Amino acid sequence: MLRRPRRNRKSEAVRNLVEETSLSVKDLIFPMFLVDGAKKKIAIDSMPGIYRFSIDNMLGEIETCMKLGIQAFDVFPAYSDSLKDPVASESYNPETFYLKALREIKKEFPEVCLMSDVAMDPYSSDGHDGLVKNGKILNDETLEILARMSLAQADAGVDIIGPSDMMDGRVGYIRELLDESGFTDTSIMSYTAKYASAFYGPFRDALDSAPKFGDKKTYQMNPSNSQEALIEGDLDTEEGADFLMVKPALSYLDIIKLLDDNFPLPIAAYNVSGEYSMVKASAERGWIDNDRAMLEILVSIKRAGAKVILTYFAKEYASLVK
Ligand code: PBG
Repeated sequence: MLRRPRRNRKSEAVRNLVEETSLSVKDLIFPMFLVDGAKKKIAIDSMPGIYRFSIDNMLGEIETCMKLGIQAFDVFPAYSDSLKDPVASESYNPETFYLKALREIKKEFPEVCLMSDVAMDPYSSDGHDGLVKNGKILNDETLEILARMSLAQADAGVDIIGPSDMMDGRVGYIRELLDESGFTDTSIMSYTAKYASAFYGPFRDALDSAPKFGDKKTYQMNPSNSQEALIEGDLDTEEGADFLMVKPALSYLDIIKLLDDNFPLPIAAYNVSGEYSMVKASAERGWIDNDRAMLEILVSIKRAGAKVILTYFAKEYASLVK
C-alpha cells in the first residue's frame, strides 16, 4: 500500500495540519428573543438554555456574549396577542418595544453587528408572514408592509435586515425604499432558500407565532426541491441582497453547497430551533454528547459552504472554545 490515508491522522498535531475547515466565533450570529417589559428572563421550554429577555437583561447578555468574542446578534421580538392585527401595524410603530430595543442596543454597543427580522408573523393576528385575505397570502400587498417595517428597523440603526418572509420581489422592493430614504449602508441578508420545515417548531413556541390556520407552503419552499434555490438565488442577487441564506441548515447542506458553488455572495445558514432542540433533548437523556454534537454540526455547516452561521449554540460554542 503506497497510499495510507491514516498517516495523516496519526497524531493531533498532524491532524491539525491537514484540517480543512476551521470555525471561528466570528462566523456566528446569535439569534435572541426579546420581550417587552423589564427584568425578564423567561425560559423557553422547548429550547433549553435559551431565554426571552427584556431589553435591560438583553443588554447584559449581549455584553457577556461580546466578552466571549461574539460580535453579531439577530434579535426577534415576541409580541402579545393584544398587539397583533391583520396588517402587522405594530411592526412599524416607532414607539414599539422592538424598535426601541434595537436602537438601545446600537447605542450601547455601536461595534456589534445587529441584525433584525422582517416578516409579518410576530405581529400578525393570522400568524402568517404575509397579508391574509380570504385564506390566501397576498404577495404584492405584503411588500409595502415589509418595506415600512424595514425602513423603521433601518432607522433604528440595525446593520443588517433579514427578510424571512419569502414573498416574491421583497429584496428589491426593500432595497429601493432603503436607498431612496438614505439607508444605502443598511445590508440585506435575504432568507433566499427558506424551506417549509418541521424544524421551526420551538421557534414558534418562543414567539407564540404559529400560523392560526393552514401552513406556510405557498411561500416557503418544498423540501424536495433544489433547482428552485437557484432561481431564488438569482433573484436575490439581482435585487441587491448582500448575503444569501439557506434555512434550515442540516437537512439542506446540499443547498448551502449549491448556492456557494453558484453565487459569489457570502452564504449564510440558519441552524434553526428544532436542530438545536434535537441535540439538547438527546443530550439531556445521555444519548449523545452535547459538545461533540454541537462542534460537528457547526463545522459541517461551514464545510458545506456557509460563511456565516446563525445558531442558538453561539454562546455555548464561544464559552467552550474560550
Ligand atoms: C418567520 C421565522 C421563522 C424562523 C425565523 N423567522 C419561523 C417560521 O417561518 O415560521 C425560524 C427560526 C428557527 O426555527 O430557529 N418569519
